[in-house]
Amino acid sequence: MCGIVGYIGESQAAPILLEGLAKLEYRGYDSAGIAVYDGTKINMMKSVGRLKVLNELTHDGETLPGCLGIGHTRWATHGSPTDVNAHPHFNMDESITVVHNGIIENYIKLRRRLESRGYEFVSETDTEVVAHLLDYYYKGNPIEAITKVMHRVEGSYALGILFKQHPDEIFAVRKDSPLIVGHTSDGNILASDVPAVLKYTRTVYFIENEEIVRLSKTNMKFYNVDEEELTKEPTTIEWDVAAAEKGGYEHYMLKEMYEQPKAVRDTISPANPRIKDNKIEIEELNMTDEEIRAIKKLYIIACGSAYHAGVTGKYVLEGLARIPVEVDLASEFRYRDPIYEENTMAIVISQSGETADSLAALRDAKAHNVKVLGIVNVVGSSIAREAESVMYTWAGPEIAVATTKAYSAQLIALYLLAMKFAYVRGQIDDAQLQELIKDLQRLPDQIELLLNNKEKIQRFANRYLASKDVFFIGRGIDYAISLEGSLKLKEISYIHSEAYAAGELKHGTISLIEEGTLVAAVLTQDTLYKKMISNIVEVRTRGAFVLAVTNEGNTEVEKTADYVIYIPQTNSYFTNSLAIIPLQLFGYYVSLGKGCDIDKPRNLAKSVTVE
Ligand code: M6R
Repeated sequence: MCGIVGYIGESQAAPILLEGLAKLEYRGYDSAGIAVYDGTKINMMKSVGRLKVLNELTHDGETLPGCLGIGHTRWATHGSPTDVNAHPHFNMDESITVVHNGIIENYIKLRRRLESRGYEFVSETDTEVVAHLLDYYYKGNPIEAITKVMHRVEGSYALGILFKQHPDEIFAVRKDSPLIVGHTSDGNILASDVPAVLKYTRTVYFIENEEIVRLSKTNMKFYNVDEEELTKEPTTIEWDVAAAEKGGYEHYMLKEMYEQPKAVRDTISPANPRIKDNKIEIEELNMTDEEIRAIKKLYIIACGSAYHAGVTGKYVLEGLARIPVEVDLASEFRYRDPIYEENTMAIVISQSGETADSLAALRDAKAHNVKVLGIVNVVGSSIAREAESVMYTWAGPEIAVATTKAYSAQLIALYLLAMKFAYVRGQIDDAQLQELIKDLQRLPDQIELLLNNKEKIQRFANRYLASKDVFFIGRGIDYAISLEGSLKLKEISYIHSEAYAAGELKHGTISLIEEGTLVAAVLTQDTLYKKMISNIVEVRTRGAFVLAVTNEGNTEVEKTADYVIYIPQTNSYFTNSLAIIPLQLFGYYVSLGKGCDIDKPRNLAKSVTVE
């Protein structure tokens, strides 16, 4: 979702801005623009479409000379994707320009007021009100004008701002949309996310809500909304530049799928290993055994794939630790007025750590004195900072919009939690824990094995490029796997797909099955195996072509299904980590065969910072 960059220093700004925007492409966008101040005039170029167009229009930035500027990739919310609606936006005399990530919720009211005072708008965006409001409040002091705007606007924003009267400075401010700043070798840089600055620095300052930053070539100052100067500590980012590059793979998604064994290994054993002396140690939890034993219920809250990881988490936590778990989509949870009980804990799962709904749900839980644990991938992100404790998934930077390695790492974090809670609460003994640890540690090699079998999946996928509908079915944990398998396929191949709890088919869905409809059936749970076989028979009788994903050894499924993919033996609680691999590969190869934009699927954004 929208990305912003800004640079001020000794170098030409435009190439740095364009390069930074390219690193934010993964967030999803439909238009882009940059504004560069040459000391006399703020020059701007913006365009609908890919960054390639902007690069061509500006001759890779050469036509916009100047050493300070701001840039933006826009994911349209208010106003369709057009050149005019693309950012940056000017005030009327072009002395102030802004880029914005977020949504100004009260923009209609503000726009009417400004129009009644003679302000003329050229775009349909909510952002343009910020440019005119800044103009209205600016009386020579940018920080004062910015704080006044902050008092007037409602919603979320990360803003980059240039004032013509301040040719040696860039300003930025945030509320509920991410923003970081860092020093380069010859200046200062700001961005929505780490990949845009990694080339220049690994030491960044995370701007907190309602903080303002003022950048010059040599200086960086921070202020709060009362215009008081703040002191901030930098954070060192461990990711290296190569981790955020494609590294010879055709797509980020493929590279990230191949990074899953490492993501899983690193999440089990980060710098401070989570398995010590054959016990699970999760120091970040900051909970005594007594507190763990006292937990009465867990709320798992997340969106998209992180929610699907949460659904698996429910089965594993309830099954192993016998703690009741409510799992909710964050967008529902935040508005459903949940009944918070004593001795409960909320687990908010997020790759980006910036998902607006998840962040809002976290705040709601905190406001009701519920302890919040964040399971987060991006170090220093909003959810990581606002949660009471944070358990990082060490998947490294994930660029492809369709998550793979972060999802796999989330599963591991949930397994570790479940194992820890189960042991501390006396639900499993030492011997059972050791068995689980052994199986957990075998997962990375088993994932690698499955990835190496990709040609088989590719051949199968190529037969289904023309599918109209694909159904994924499973029971228990296999239902959770189906949810994720279905999302992987639909989000990148644009083939309609649904996941169903297999027992639900007879309650309506089975009427959709026609001759040749592809049904992917997941059957990894021994206790539900026979039930699943019956469900496969039911859909096959109605003409479905059935792809089965099951455990090695379940060969008799070949009598019932049309095509079978086997996953190595593991503990029944961990099968998601293996069964998801062929389903991810299936989605990838269908999308590849159809020629879709795999890493940047239409209409989608990597980091959903608006609700
Ligand atoms: O950054 P988050 O994990 O909070 O993101 C949640 C979802 O937006 C994300 O998982 C989304 O569903 C992905 N496109 C799935 O591949």
